[in-house]
Amino acid sequence: MDSEQVRAHWRNWASKFGTALGATTRTETAKTLEIDALARRMCMIGLGDMPAHVLEVGCGNGLNCFGLAAQFPRMQFHGIDYTAEMIDAAREAATANGFRDRSSFRIGNALELSKTPGLLAQYDVVFTDRCLINIAPVDLQMRAITGLAAKVRKGGHLIMIENSMATYDRQNHCRALLDLPARTPAAFNLFFDETRILPHLETLGLEVEIEDFISLHDLMLYVLAPAINGGTVDYDHPLVHAATRLNIAVSAETSSAFGAFGQGRMFVCRKP
Ligand SMILES: C[S@@+](CC[C@H](N)C(=O)[O-])C[C@H]1O[C@@H](n2cnc3c(N)ncnc32)[C@H](O)[C@@H]1O
Repeated sequence: MDSEQVRAHWRNWASKFGTALGATTRTETAKTLEIDALARRMCMIGLGDMPAHVLEVGCGNGLNCFGLAAQFPRMQFHGIDYTAEMIDAAREAATANGFRDRSSFRIGNALELSKTPGLLAQYDVVFTDRCLINIAPVDLQMRAITGLAAKVRKGGHLIMIENSMATYDRQNHCRALLDLPARTPAAFNLFFDETRILPHLETLGLEVEIEDFISLHDLMLYVLAPAINGGTVDYDHPLVHAATRLNIAVSAETSSAFGAFGQGRMFVCRKP
């Protein structure tokens, strides 16, 4: 898909699903794990009780911002997305959820942050969640990351939950071990090539830690449950729900406890 087709895809999903989860993912359990990982990290970096300013780039219909706003009453959220229909849905949901005073949503492109009016010069946290994988080629992903990092204050964090080819390949290896065919990324996605992205983060002077927050869930959803039900990915399988609960409970005690097998990883980058 070229970049216009990718945009059209998100316009379609936003128009079809509006404020519902389906606008941005098929997997409710993965969304639960993403918000849990972000919230846990906010506490780990000392912002749990702080009046912090947080920017989500590629915010979709705002579910991450609302999930975090509910847990961190002193935080202020800005969300931008290049899909106008997503921003309309986020604004509608902000009103419906009672978060209008602590969240605001604007149309903006991850590749042109400086052209988005109304943003702060810098934030305590800038984060993405499956946004940058919609940008291709990898040089443009890196350009976007440079722009995101510039919006982070010294001592602040850029947090990216993005899909990685490295862990996706490991997950596919597990499928092969159980005689399942490899899955392929959606046509509108370019998963992170860590051999390019990680050195780029280093050139930006960022201190990087990677958390694998979703491995148990993804192994259950994409490998183990399909292995016993004819290859079907069943988003509502009871074991996927149980794996989600266990993944969250263990993550609270031990980071990345289940290895690096999720298609998403959390890249936590501190600006020294
Ligand atoms: C998979 S959805 C994720 C939405 C949200 N981050 C979440 O986790 O619920 C990807 C979002 O990124 C947005 N997006 C993709 N490329 C973008 C870009 N260059 N600038 C801003 N938004 C972008 C899409 O419009 C879509 O809303």
